[in-house]
Amino acid sequence: MENFVFENPTRIIFGKDTHKVVGKEVKKYSDRILLHYGMGSIKKSGLYDRIIQSLKKEKIEFFELGGVKPNPGLDLTIKGSGICRKEGIDFILAAGGGSVIDSAKAIALNVPYKGGNMWDFVTGRAVPVTALPVGVILTIPASGSESSDAAVITNEDRMIKKGYHSDLIRPVFAILNPELAFTLPDQQLASGAADIMAHVMERYFTRTKNTDLTDRLCEAAMRTVMENAPLALKYRRDYNATAELMWAGNLAHNGLLSTGRTGDWGSHKIGHELSTCYGVPHGSSLSIVFPAWIKYVYNRDIDMFYKFSVRVFDVDPCFGTPEDVINKGIERLVSFYRKLGLPTSLGEIGAGKEKFEEMAEKATLYGPIGNYIRLEMQDVINIYNLAL
Ligand code: NZQ
Ligand code: ZN
Repeated sequence: MENFVFENPTRIIFGKDTHKVVGKEVKKYSDRILLHYGMGSIKKSGLYDRIIQSLKKEKIEFFELGGVKPNPGLDLTIKGSGICRKEGIDFILAAGGGSVIDSAKAIALNVPYKGGNMWDFVTGRAVPVTALPVGVILTIPASGSESSDAAVITNEDRMIKKGYHSDLIRPVFAILNPELAFTLPDQQLASGAADIMAHVMERYFTRTKNTDLTDRLCEAAMRTVMENAPLALKYRRDYNATAELMWAGNLAHNGLLSTGRTGDWGSHKIGHELSTCYGVPHGSSLSIVFPAWIKYVYNRDIDMFYKFSVRVFDVDPCFGTPEDVINKGIERLVSFYRKLGLPTSLGEIGAGKEKFEEMAEKATLYGPIGNYIRLEMQDVINIYNLAL
């Protein structure tokens, strides 16, 4: 096990009706805020009205900026920081999924930085010294952004999607009411479940040895997602299944499962290029990439992937050779994705070989990716080929 420091300051407020306390929570930090949201789902579901009611009750003055698109862009965050500076706003409330939360975090970084915008932090041109506080009302169990240290933003000028990590942008609170996810389209719910699985797998596949406790925690999280995602999808108002998924989504990415180990994260970076080039939802990019990544790398540590197949997918250890067991595990991972209606090959999203070089070049723009195996541009092309 590696040395580690674990601290996650995000206050989690979980359960039915919890969105009603949003005004009270915000009031602890500010009475002049920016309410940030997406393309309209919160208005359709009625959440928007309930937020406004709660803010007004606490006499919180609010400005608003909607219009965050999935795979959020840098341009809107620049607009958002302009509003905050002009209006003297010192708190951002994000109501939505990972895209809205990440956009809010980017605005929070932009506002106090006079030298440009947060892309300078992504490229390493500058380092932030502070950020505005962000609060969250989560509407989709998926990204874990509600208490993560990351903001994943697409630079529209360069068509590059990259994540920026800093403890400065962990939200100060996150309201997780599973009922708010009942209105999600099936495909988004499924995509979110794939993202949660991926966050655990990125951590599980490690070169660090002697990680028994976090291995077992990861296995529990993956098994919980595999059991509850199909239920939440079949019975769209099943509170318990959705609650399991929402809590798993948070635990998968709040840092706990990374303690004492170094995760991989190559598949996420390979997947981001699919989102940029083909507009696929983040989770669907991962259901395509992850099986191919495992096929490409498993022979570097047969024991670890064997353990994954046996403990997470219940493959019989006597099924065959260790490689047979691993391949059965990959097959079961793929059937889990298919059961959720997710794509598991590039063909299903209309992608062929034509953009492999361009995508692989962008994925490795700042050097080799992944920690379990360092992947160069050619490795990424090979993985895309395995995903065809
Ligand atoms: O825009 P609206 O109208 O709100 O609609 C959204 C959007 O179309 C809709 N939706 C969300 N909640 C809903 C709902 N529709 C009906 N009812 C609800 N309750 O769902 C669509 C997808 O929303 P989005 O926020 O994009 O989904 P998700 O939470 O999966 O976030 C994906 C983004 O997060 C990034 C991804 O790269 C991607 O850009 N990630 C962020 C991470 C982080 N900051 O730590 C880590 C992740 O690995 C991930 O990279
Ligand atoms: Zn993810």
